[in-house]
Parts: sequence; structure tokens; C-alpha cells
Amino acid sequence: MKRILVTGALGQIGSELTDALRDKYGKDNVVASDLQEPCAETKAAGPCEIIDVLDKNALDAVVKHYKVDTIYHLGAILSAVGEKNPQLAYQVNMNGLFNVLEVAREQKLERVLVPSSIAAFGPDSPKNNTPNDTIQRPTSMYGVTKVAGELLGNYYVKRFGVDVRGVRYPGIISYKTLPGGGTTDYAIDIFYEALKNKKYTSFLGPDSRLPMMFMSDAIKSIMDLAEAPFESLKHHADYNVAAVSFTPQELADAIKKRIPEFEISYEPDYRQEIADSWPASLDDSCAREEWGWSHEYGLEEMVDIMLEKIQEKLS
Ligand code: NAD
Ligand code: SER
Repeated sequence: MKRILVTGALGQIGSELTDALRDKYGKDNVVASDLQEPCAETKAAGPCEIIDVLDKNALDAVVKHYKVDTIYHLGAILSAVGEKNPQLAYQVNMNGLFNVLEVAREQKLERVLVPSSIAAFGPDSPKNNTPNDTIQRPTSMYGVTKVAGELLGNYYVKRFGVDVRGVRYPGIISYKTLPGGGTTDYAIDIFYEALKNKKYTSFLGPDSRLPMMFMSDAIKSIMDLAEAPFESLKHHADYNVAAVSFTPQELADAIKKRIPEFEISYEPDYRQEIADSWPASLDDSCAREEWGWSHEYGLEEMVDIMLEKIQEKLS
């Protein structure tokens, strides 16, 4: 039986992942945790705890109390917030992950899942169809913590036999929980503004092509990776996963097909430099070959769903 702890369960991905894990493994077997009470809305749905991942004793105690065997570690600081406060990003992303891995090692947990990001690549990486294994050298603090997190995860596999696995998420598009301060957030904000005001000013320029993925695919990728047989994995904490890739202008055009009055304008800010350092598209053939990854959602379906669901929220 799986006994799962999710850190960062109030976040954009953690909130939906917790629901999906509870559906699959049973609501009592998935403990949701975050810096604040993560169960104001979901208390009936399953156990919840307040855990700061910088507090190893708190992590230890919850893992023991619930007999946790698997941690999905989603607690993190994202790229834009991280560039404003690099010290905090370092603390949470590095020391938080270290605590999780140490608890997993000491308590002999079965598995740790931890997302990396396209931010683990940098301006020296091949820009298009970026291979899984290539030069990385990220230039944001967020990216530095992500590539270091991948290396640390792989080290724990090799040195201590802790089964650590991770996907490099592209920008994740969703409508349930707002994003937490990333460079790809424009691709969610744009839907709210298109529906509310019929116009949007993008903080990235019109041609900033980035890899993106709909939330359902993001959840599927990490849960599929978690279930893959260890013997089939040639990588561990560092799998490229891809779905779609588009620019702000292409996304605006897709919205304009559905809302003809919609207009986009551009005022690039500090996040442009972060976006410019990231891949435009990813080669995810390792994930496809090693554990059967495939995505379902393309740009058009994603735009239809986002507009429909956000309209429902706003009305
Ligand atoms: P988010 O910002 O929406 O949520 C992160 C959560 O972590 C928040 O609820 C926050 O309260 C919590 N948190 C912050 N500091 C903490 C601490 N000290 N202890 C415990 N919890 C803490 O982020 P997200 O988008 O859900 O991202 C989850 C993971 O996925 C992160 O590792 C992120 O790097 C990765 N990722 C996300 C995206 C994306 O587009 N959302 C893309 C690539 C990778
Ligand atoms: N969506 C994330 C961010 O922009 C990528 O890791 O920070």
C-alpha cells in the first residue's frame, strides 16, 4: 500500500496532484502539506499537515506518524520570485530538497518524486529540441537550484540507493490554482485578462517561444514516472518531458480566434532575460523510450478548456 506525503500541496501543481494521488491511492493515504494549513477546503478529503521543508524535524515526524513511504516534493520557490529573492530560492530549493532526501535515506523510504524544470538549462544549451543530456549551465538562481537538485537526486540514487525520480517540467498551464511566481505565468494570466478585459499586456515579448504543458499531462507525467519499473530507468531525477511549444503571439492568436476583440500588447520586464535563457522546445525521447511517456493535450484543446473553465470561475 502506498503512503504518500506531498509537500507544497497548496501550489499550482501540488493542489491538483494531491487530488489525483488521492483518487488513485485512496484519500487517507495521501498527506497534503504546505507552509499553511492546506486543508481549509479539502479537510474531508484526507490528512493535512503544516510543514516547512526547511524544518527537518517536522518532516521526520510526519513521515513517521503516517508511515509515509513516498514523498512528492513540490514545495519550492519559482523562477520570477527566485530572481527577486535568490537567497530564499537557494534556501528552500536546496536545503528543503536536502532535508527531504535525508529523511528518505534515514527512514528508508521507497521513493521520492521531485520536479525539475526547463530552467535547469541555460543559454549555452541547444535552444531547439534540447536533448535530455546536454550542457546545462543555467543562469537564474532558480535554474541553478534545479540543476543542482537533479544532480543531488541522482547522487542519492547512486550513493545511498534512494529511488529519486524527476521530470523537467515545461511551463504548466492550468485553471484551478493560480501559478506561484514563474516566468511562464503569462500563459495563464492571459486567459483571465482576455475574458475579463479583452486585452492583455505580456511581460514576455511576442516571439519568446517556450515549452509548455497542460496540467493533466503534467500530473500524468509525474505519476507515470513514479510507477515505472526501476530497471527500465536509465535516468533518474532529470527527464525532459514535452507537450507543446508556443510564443505569446501564437497563444494570443489562438485566443483571438475564439474572442475576436482580444488584443495583446508587450512590455517585457526582467522575466524576459530568464525566458531568453531557456529552451524553446525539448527532446523528450528518453522519457518516451524509458517509461512510455506521451502527452495528450495540444494548443487548441488547451485554449478551449482554459477559456471554458476560467469563464465558469469568473461567472
Ligand atoms: P507554486 O509556487 O505554485 O507552489 C509551491 C508551493 O511550495 C507553495 O504552495 C508554497 O507555499 C510552497 N512552499 C514554499 N516554500 C516552502 C517551504 N519552505 N516549505 C514548504 N512549502 C513551501 O509552484 P508549482 O508551480 O506548484 O511548482 C511545484 C514544483 O514544480 C516546483 O519544484 C517547481 O520548480 C516545479 N515546476 C513548476 C512549473 C510550473 O510551470 N508550475 C514548471 C517547472 C517546474
Ligand atoms: N514555470 C516555471 C517558472 O516559470 C518553470 O520552471 O518558473
